[in-house]
Amino acid sequence: MSDFEAKVREALSNPQNQGEISDADAVGTVGSPDCGDMMRMWLKFTEKGGKRVIDRASFQAFGCQTAIAVASMATQLLKGKTAEEAAKLSAQDLAGDLGALPPMKIHCGQLVEGALQNALNPAASTPSDKPSAPDTLS
Ligand code: FES
Ligand code: FES
Repeated sequence: MSDFEAKVREALSNPQNQGEISDADAVGTVGSPDCGDMMRMWLKFTEKGGKRVIDRASFQAFGCQTAIAVASMATQLLKGKTAEEAAKLSAQDLAGDLGALPPMKIHCGQLVEGALQNALNPAASTPSDKPSAPDTLS
């Protein structure tokens, strides 16, 4: 087993931040054309030191184990980031300590990145995916 697979397995044994945030400020959903899997991400913002930052992030994944592991990692490292900072994170950034995404698994990370981007840009997601538009993102 590669180091990456071992870390994915470890993350899957205790995935963090799974499930809906009922009072979320933003939600984004994306499906992967490569494999048919789906990912939804919720974001809750708060004011900290005069900045609007992510207080909580959560996800729900339909299908892919690697995407679940990356989303678990991503929801932890998104905490405290502004929307602008979060928008700059690549699939690889979001994989954090899991390490380099193997070529076959890059689209799994991109599923997480896509859900995050859709949450940050509500205009890009479907109407049912935006309970309220975060006001710093207009
Ligand atoms: Fe989604 Fe691989 S096709 S888990
Ligand atoms: Fe398709 Fe992972 S195999 S998202």
